[in-house]
Amino acid sequence: MKRVLVATGGGDCPGLNAVIRAVVKRAEQERDWEVIGSIESFNGILREPTEIRVLDEKAVAGIHVQGGTIIGSTNKGGPFAWPIKNKDGSWDYADRSDEMIRKLQYLGVDAVISVGGDGSQRISQGLFEKGLNVIGVPKTIDNDLLATDFTFGFQSAVQVATEAVDKLVTTAASHNRVLVLEVMGRNAGWIALHAAIAGGAEVCLVPEIPYDLNKILEKLKSRYSRGKGNAIVVVSEGAMPKGGEVVGVKSTEVGYEHIRLGGIAHKLSYDLKEAGFEADMRETVLGHLQRGGVPVAYDRILASQFGVKAFEMVLKGEFGKMVAYRHPDIIAVPLTEALDRPNFVNPDCSLVRTARGLGISFGD
Ligand code: F6P
Repeated sequence: MKRVLVATGGGDCPGLNAVIRAVVKRAEQERDWEVIGSIESFNGILREPTEIRVLDEKAVAGIHVQGGTIIGSTNKGGPFAWPIKNKDGSWDYADRSDEMIRKLQYLGVDAVISVGGDGSQRISQGLFEKGLNVIGVPKTIDNDLLATDFTFGFQSAVQVATEAVDKLVTTAASHNRVLVLEVMGRNAGWIALHAAIAGGAEVCLVPEIPYDLNKILEKLKSRYSRGKGNAIVVVSEGAMPKGGEVVGVKSTEVGYEHIRLGGIAHKLSYDLKEAGFEADMRETVLGHLQRGGVPVAYDRILASQFGVKAFEMVLKGEFGKMVAYRHPDIIAVPLTEALDRPNFVNPDCSLVRTARGLGISFGD
C-alpha cells in the first residue's frame, strides 16, 4: 500500500474540505493508495505522539459542503521554524525539517499534498529541495497568486462581503448615513473590489491604490443634498492613505509572523469627521465571517478540481509543482514560479475600469 499525506496550512477558507474529499475519492479509485491527514498542517507529524488521521471515503463523506478543514490548520511555526520555549520564557525557532522528513519516511509516506497559501508553499518548496515528494495546492482567500486565475474560498468570501453590502445599503438609506465595511485583503484588494461592484458601493479602497482623504470627501459630499443622502464605502483591511501606513497591531502569538490588520474602517470615519464631514457614519468589520461557513458552488467545484488534479500529479510524479487554474484548464506550475508572482489589483485592469465606469471612487 502506498501512502499520500494531506496537510492544510495557513488561514482556513471555504473549500479546504472539498479538496481533501476530492483527493480521497480519486485515490480510492487506485486501490493501492491510502490517504492520511496530518493534524494542523505539519504540526501533526512534528508532535509527539504523532497526530495523523486516516482519510477514507467514510471520513470524507459529505464534507465538501462544510467550511473549515477536518484536519485543522495553523499559521504558526512549521518544520523550518518550530517554536521552542527557553527557560527564561523567551522563544527560539528550530529547523526540524530533516527530522520531519525522516519521520514521514518511517510512516511510509510516499508523497505529500500541501494545501496552503504562500507561506505554506514556501515550506513545500523548502521540503521539495530536501528531497520530499511534495505537491502544492494553492489556498488564499485574498486571491493574491498570479499563477492561478482563481483560488477556492475567494468567491465565498466575495459572496459574504456582497451580502453585507446589500444589508448595509438599506440601513444607510434609512438613516442618511455613510456605512463603512472593512473586508479582508492584506496586500490585495480583490474581495473589496468584487464586493463594491456586486453590491453597488460608492467608494472602494484597496491596498494597491493609496487614497487621498479629500477625494473620498468629495465623493461622499456629492451623495448628500440638504443633509439627505447615504453611501457605502468598502475598504480592504490593508488599505492605507497616500504616504501613510496600514492599521494593525503586532501579534503576541508565538510563531505568528504577520501584523494583525484591523481598524482602517474606524480610522477612515475618524479622519473624515476631523476633515469636516457632517453626516453620520458607522463602521462594520466583517472579519472572519468571510472565512467561515459553507463554500459557494464555484469554490466547491474549483476545490474538487484541485484535489483530483493534485492526486493525479502524485500518480505521475510531478513533484515540486503546484496545481493552478488557467481557464479552462487545471494545470501544474513549478512552485518556484508560483511563489514569485503575487496577484495584486492593477489600477489599470479592466475590473478597476468597470468600477470607475460605474462611478465608484478609489479615493485617488
Ligand atoms: O491572508 C488571508 C487573511 O485572511 C488576511 O486577509 C487576513 O489579514 C489574515 O488572513 C488573517 O488571518 P488570521 O486571523 O487567521 O491570522
